[in-house]
Amino acid sequence: MADQVRVFAPAKINLFLHAGDKRADGYHALQSLVVFTDVGDALTLDHDAALTLTIEGPFAQGLAGEADNLILKAARALSKTARMTLTKNLPVASGIGGGSADAAAALRGLAKLHGMDTAGLQETAAMLGSDVPVCVASRSAWMEGRGEVVTPVPAPRLAMVLVNPGVAVPTAGVFRALESRRGTGMALPAGFDSGQGLLDFLKRMSNDLEAPARAIQPVIGEVLQALSGAGLARMSGSGATCFGVFDDDAQAVAAARDIARAHPAWWVQSARTLQ
Ligand code: C5P
Repeated sequence: MADQVRVFAPAKINLFLHAGDKRADGYHALQSLVVFTDVGDALTLDHDAALTLTIEGPFAQGLAGEADNLILKAARALSKTARMTLTKNLPVASGIGGGSADAAAALRGLAKLHGMDTAGLQETAAMLGSDVPVCVASRSAWMEGRGEVVTPVPAPRLAMVLVNPGVAVPTAGVFRALESRRGTGMALPAGFDSGQGLLDFLKRMSNDLEAPARAIQPVIGEVLQALSGAGLARMSGSGATCFGVFDDDAQAVAAARDIARAHPAWWVQSARTLQ
């Protein structure tokens, strides 16, 4: 049993996201290539007889009105207690898995704090949300089913800029407005041996949720325009956060500085993907 546990909850990026039909359970079939970044939230866990959560950090306010955080649901699902502190660095309801990444971090952190077997975590993760299973490993993966079928796929490191225009986009509403779908019939790629190979693959893919998200929040079009200097610019998840892929870290840092200067109210962050 560990004394104190600190876990990182990296931002999740859907490099592409194709949707299929709506299933009998109301969820849509998906196919997505997911990577994680060195930008994320942080969770600290200490032993305590009670279950508590304190939220601090730049986006803590965004969660203030939320009656039941997914982190607390994760702890209850495991029947474990802890005194937890979340540093909320990622914008809320923004398509980069903030809540799901935090819930996955809580599962990992509680398992470590209490010396639990991690074998059953994926099943609990799937109960908490479609994106939570992929966030448990937080490594590049091919995602299918409604999100719970996760296959690790090696992906080269990418230099990125993440941009969120400060509007929350509810995932369910975006799926409800979904009309055009690319389907989920693609075969699992063996892997990508270079950044360029990965970009060439991604240029043929899209995010099916971009059109419905833009219909709800047209500012997403402005965000993609601001990222037009990138080798590839796409929306992640159900938005509104978009990412641009750059040749190297220096170019990503310079682009982030320029976009932040032009749009001071936006959240703009250079990042690199984890391997
Ligand atoms: O699983 P999660 O709680 O993240 O999903 C939020 C909502 O997004 C669901 O209630 C559903 O309306 C929609 N969704 C979907 N298909 C998916 C994932 C989510 O329709 N694969």
